[in-house]
Amino acid sequence: MIKQLDNYLLGRSVRKYRAEAQIIQHHSLSLGGVPDGSLANSFQNLRGRTDREAMQVGFAIIVEMADRTLGKRPYEVQIMGALAMADGRIAEMATGEGKTLTAALPLAWNGLQTRAHAMTVNDFLARRDAQQLDPLFEALGLTVGYLQDNFGRESRQIAYQCSIVYGTPSQFVFDYLRDHIVHRHAQLMQQGRNFLLVDEADSIFIDEARTPMVLSGDGALDPSLWTDLYAFVSSLTHEDMREDKRTQLEKILVDNHGYESHLIVDRTKSSAFFSESGITVAEDYLLDKGVIATRDEIWQPSRSHIWRALNACAKAAHLFVRDRDYIIADDKAIIVDQETGRLSHGKRWNDGLHQAVEAKESLSIKPESEELGRIALSNYVSLYSSVGGMTGTAMTEAKEIHDLYGLTTVPIPTHRPRIRVDHPDIVFMTQEGKWRKIVEDVKTIHATGQPILIGTGSISDSEQLSARFESLGIDHQVLNAKQDEHEAMIVAQAGRLGAITIATNMAGRGTDIILGGNPELMVEEEADEESIARVEEACRNERQAVMEAGGLFVMGCERGDSRRIDLQLSGRAGRQGDPGASRFYIALDDPLLKNYGGDALKRFFLALGLGEHDGVEHSMINSSIAKAQAKKQAIHMTSRKEGLKQDSVIDKPRHVFFQLRDELLAEDPATIFDFASNKVEQAVERMLCIYLNSGKGFPETWNKAGLRDKLVGWGLSGDWFDGMYADFENDHYKIQGLKDQLVNWIQFDLRARSSQLQDKRDAMIHSSLLHAIDTQWKAMLEEADHIRAGIHLRAYAQEKPDLSFQKEVFRLFKALYFDIPVVMIDYVYACVSHRESQLDQVEDTAAA
Ligand SMILES: Nc1ncnc2c1ncn2[C@@H]1O[C@H](COP(=O)(O)OP(=O)(O)OP(=O)(O)O)[C@@H](O)[C@H]1O
Ligand SMILES: [Mg+2]
Repeated sequence: MIKQLDNYLLGRSVRKYRAEAQIIQHHSLSLGGVPDGSLANSFQNLRGRTDREAMQVGFAIIVEMADRTLGKRPYEVQIMGALAMADGRIAEMATGEGKTLTAALPLAWNGLQTRAHAMTVNDFLARRDAQQLDPLFEALGLTVGYLQDNFGRESRQIAYQCSIVYGTPSQFVFDYLRDHIVHRHAQLMQQGRNFLLVDEADSIFIDEARTPMVLSGDGALDPSLWTDLYAFVSSLTHEDMREDKRTQLEKILVDNHGYESHLIVDRTKSSAFFSESGITVAEDYLLDKGVIATRDEIWQPSRSHIWRALNACAKAAHLFVRDRDYIIADDKAIIVDQETGRLSHGKRWNDGLHQAVEAKESLSIKPESEELGRIALSNYVSLYSSVGGMTGTAMTEAKEIHDLYGLTTVPIPTHRPRIRVDHPDIVFMTQEGKWRKIVEDVKTIHATGQPILIGTGSISDSEQLSARFESLGIDHQVLNAKQDEHEAMIVAQAGRLGAITIATNMAGRGTDIILGGNPELMVEEEADEESIARVEEACRNERQAVMEAGGLFVMGCERGDSRRIDLQLSGRAGRQGDPGASRFYIALDDPLLKNYGGDALKRFFLALGLGEHDGVEHSMINSSIAKAQAKKQAIHMTSRKEGLKQDSVIDKPRHVFFQLRDELLAEDPATIFDFASNKVEQAVERMLCIYLNSGKGFPETWNKAGLRDKLVGWGLSGDWFDGMYADFENDHYKIQGLKDQLVNWIQFDLRARSSQLQDKRDAMIHSSLLHAIDTQWKAMLEEADHIRAGIHLRAYAQEKPDLSFQKEVFRLFKALYFDIPVVMIDYVYACVSHRESQLDQVEDTAAA
């Protein structure tokens, strides 16, 4: 019933968008005779208009301009998708339908009104899309920029000035976090967060949302310890978790369930635990090394990093594989993004995992770092006033996207019917059988001239397949994260007659393979008109030949973790109604099947009497794969929800801290001294509350000495304080009087001392105040981390971990927040009285 209602409502909004798209198309056709300049002017005149009619006129102008500048006129279905996104929805438009161009409409419209950010899965696509649409945006009088991993602050600032900015989630999120550690207003990068458009929305909203993004600075734990810890952990005995013994972590800690080994490795969940005997030997080892003094010590929150380090070493030893999860280059371990197959330069795993991997590979170990900020993607997304998205594959995840982000998904029909042929999967008993068959099929298909794209699960798979081809003299290209620069070129050629391209699953998203080759990328930059025309002509002819050979043939070397990933890969073929084909080759010991039901299939195969290298097409396999993918997705979903729940607990505090900081950063330096001076009153009030319980309760419980020490610590006279206190001691109702005296005294003192800073005064005081907020925010993150690490032990104490985490974090937040004025005055005093260590720090940042 509900399903029917949903379908009815969806159908209705699709019809509504179609009618509106027709109006826009109609209007755009009437603009044919208008000169470019006037068209751009009319567009600019729509700035500030928020009504629907204005948007329709705006869209019509963009459609006409797209035709003039790009030679592509958005189809009706593209305008429909654009309308859905402008309405803050997710448009599901099949692969190859032209979402890049579709996005131009809501982006240009919102870029005109305020500013628009476009998020996509990797740097290559961010650059490609920005460059592709640049002529259109420029003709409309808008500017477009993009962010890349290797961009410094200045390039980023320039990009963010543009009406439309393209980048990956981590670019946007880290810039946001970095904007909250700068000390000068002029260092800010992002110019607000208004409209956000998310391409490949399922990947970004679902897959990327798994781990909160953490901004780190330099930090604490002794790097020399890692090598020893890793050597110790990797020498421990281990075994795989047995299916029938799958229990909660707590259970394993309590009793060993017959596990003999020190470590239990759960490959399906990518985790490794210490068994009870493992914990005992670890404690012995740490005691022996003098890292801890008593057995219980590793359970103390302040020592949680040791326990974390041990667990990280266990993971590094048994779950993380070189050339699959990371590669080694220049004495560094570089993460391979499992979703995109790309190298994540500069990104580091947290929770000590990166150090553990560095220890494992005998690389130089970068100290574990201190956390400067963190936010889960979904919480970042919620900072925008409006969010729209698009992807080829979202309907299966529509519910989760709606639950997490409150966005509805609308399926948009295709422009032309799809004619791609998806062949049934072939399954093999062994890897060897699978690879042999792939090579054999490649040879047969290649003989017909049909271009082939082969998607592999990992860099090492693509390398070994490439080696097989090489030994057979089969000409081919390898597209993996290792040769970033040539990527665009390889993609441009992948649809040419007889091309063979091997790619890790990065090719599964967003790349556009044009049959017959992409002339734009094939001509030299300074080529003349004539040679351009020649290349275009050649591509057209070649396209005809490729179409006759059947279009692009996509081969998948394994099924991915979700059906969406598979659809993305096969979606490289049959774009825009082109012919094409796809087939997946699977072995029972592929990662997906090995951990989920591969054994049952193996028995079934043996019963069929299949030989080691034989392959078979069978319907039973489809359902096994679907089940395995569903299981894997369910596990991912649970961990996503966990991550989000924990991040949401600090979402409110983050809001408060960041807002406070934003306001302070925007404060005029000329009045900053008055600002600080005003803070003295709050600081004194807080101190009287801490030390004298605000004059309430029994005087015996007050801590006069503590208050005195604090003031003396700031360089104030203890005798003077004693004098002021005497009055109050005689009459406890005079707490207000004491407060006023202290406030006046401190304000006067600060003014006198700060005069010696001369022209540096305001900048340094501004920095000190920001430092105070940062100190409290960092303490918040660090303490929350300790609470989080210790929280699972609470399960023993019959407490609900979630709830106690929430309660404790809130208590922590209150304390840290109310202390801010005191910490501010602390830093200001450090600054005016030249207290060495803190001053250096403040001066450094003031200079930066
Ligand atoms: N209106 C149009 N007229 C002509 N060609 C178009 C039009 N829209 C898109 N195309 C072409 O269609 C091809 C596919 O476009 P694009 O890569 O944007 O698809 P996509 O929907 O983003 O696919 P994916 O889901 O794989 O990312 C491109 O070559 C593009 O130039
Ligand atoms: Mg795309």
